[in-house]
Amino acid sequence: MEPTFDIPLLDDLDAPKQISGTSDGKRMVYLETYGCQMNVSDSEIVASVLSKDGYGLTHSVEEADIILINTCAIRENAEQKVRRRLVELRSHKMKVNPDVKLGVLGCMAERLREKLLDQEKLVDLVVGPDAYRDLPNLLSQATDTGQAAVNVQLSKEETYQDIEPVRYATNGVSSFVSIMRGCDNMCSFCVVPFTRGRERSRPVASILDECKTLVENGFREVTVLGQNVNSYRDEQQGGSVDFAELVYRISQISPELRIRYSTSHPKDCSDALLHVHREQANVCNYIHLPVQHGNTDMLQRMKRTYTRDQYLDLVERARKIVPGVALSTDIIAGFCDETEAEHQDTLSLMAQVRYEHAYMFMYSERPDTYAARKFTDNVPEHVKKKRLQEIIEQQSGISLESNQAEIGKEHIILVEGLSRRSDEQLSGRSDTNKMTVFDRQDFKKGDYVRVRITDCTSATLLATPLGRA
Ligand code: SAH
Ligand code: SF4
Ligand code: F3S
Repeated sequence: MEPTFDIPLLDDLDAPKQISGTSDGKRMVYLETYGCQMNVSDSEIVASVLSKDGYGLTHSVEEADIILINTCAIRENAEQKVRRRLVELRSHKMKVNPDVKLGVLGCMAERLREKLLDQEKLVDLVVGPDAYRDLPNLLSQATDTGQAAVNVQLSKEETYQDIEPVRYATNGVSSFVSIMRGCDNMCSFCVVPFTRGRERSRPVASILDECKTLVENGFREVTVLGQNVNSYRDEQQGGSVDFAELVYRISQISPELRIRYSTSHPKDCSDALLHVHREQANVCNYIHLPVQHGNTDMLQRMKRTYTRDQYLDLVERARKIVPGVALSTDIIAGFCDETEAEHQDTLSLMAQVRYEHAYMFMYSERPDTYAARKFTDNVPEHVKKKRLQEIIEQQSGISLESNQAEIGKEHIILVEGLSRRSDEQLSGRSDTNKMTVFDRQDFKKGDYVRVRITDCTSATLLATPLGRA
């Protein structure tokens, strides 16, 4: 899964037509999202639940009667950022209107529960990721009683399958579709199983319906989401649908719909799935396959359930079955007891695989995880930093070289919108997930454009458009 990025939702995007605009006496909600794509997708569920209940959505904190922050707990610094923001928002609320309700949703709500109310007295509402249907009820409760309202119940069944997300902050071209929730993997460093509960898959029919609706509404790309999509399984009469079959079925909806997914756990990435990549042109030539570390003992301490060699075999298999497949990864530097030699194994694995892209993190101990209970977070901060820096430097060299190797080649880019730098240029991603920028001409958002790559940085390809594809 493409990890932790902070999105000030609605920032530079069109106003969500369905539910913003004039408040017409509606109670207005301001919603800000932190964390992974799953949280972005969840915020669309929250927007849907609240709009059905008559709330409006606003871009502006000033206009809001209700301020909701959808939070992330993956690393200490993610939480600190949210805490700072909460303090800011709380002081805004006290200054402007103490009746404004301030709520924490998502993974921090689940992790900290009543602590957010009792110790820190920061918020009026604490709602875990499986309790969003209860939001209208909790909001009335908080308003009527003046007391804080909490629901952090995790569920074994909830997939929000029947709730049509309100896509209030997308580019209108690509969208997330959540296919499962929770995680049963228990990697020793990770808080997600605690904040998101048990793994469960959403029924295949509701996923296909959502994708069809997206196509009808002009979307051209879906990224299907789960913490471990490879373990997707929908038991049906007459057999079960696994992830490879699900991706295949989505790929049959429309040849114009591109499909990506995140995240794929290396332990169960099947050949059947690789064959779907190979055979279905609209299943993107890109897999995010987080390795976390390059040393087998370390992988064992992390409880990742594969060895370095097994991972490298998988990479080889993927490249054989899916020629030209682009790979990306997540890496953790400075996990418990990491030696210099083990760190070197991460560098050598990354040099061997040559990922197109990597998300790289310093280990951050999370309360209650296996690592927090059984191991000591004993790599000094400055060593963690130095190792992370080495990993980042090596990867940016590799990313740059891999982009340079694209010069002269042709790609089909799905246009996502104007480039950040100039209104005269468009940007979008290649099948292999490389951000590409080219002259606007008469192309528009949602077009597939054939381009030739002319130049690059380590993060972006520059191209000349050749025509619509
Ligand atoms: N389900 C996804 C990961 C979701 S979290 C998967 O298994 O790939 C995204 C990334 O955050 C992880 O891949 C890991 O690299 C990183 N991460 C998770 N817990 C962390 C921690 N305690 N400290 C530092 N990085 C962490
Ligand atoms: Fe966390 Fe591991 Fe589950 Fe990913 S697979 S969410 S890293 S426990
Ligand atoms: Fe995602 Fe952060 Fe929760 S990465 S699942 S929002 S802890």
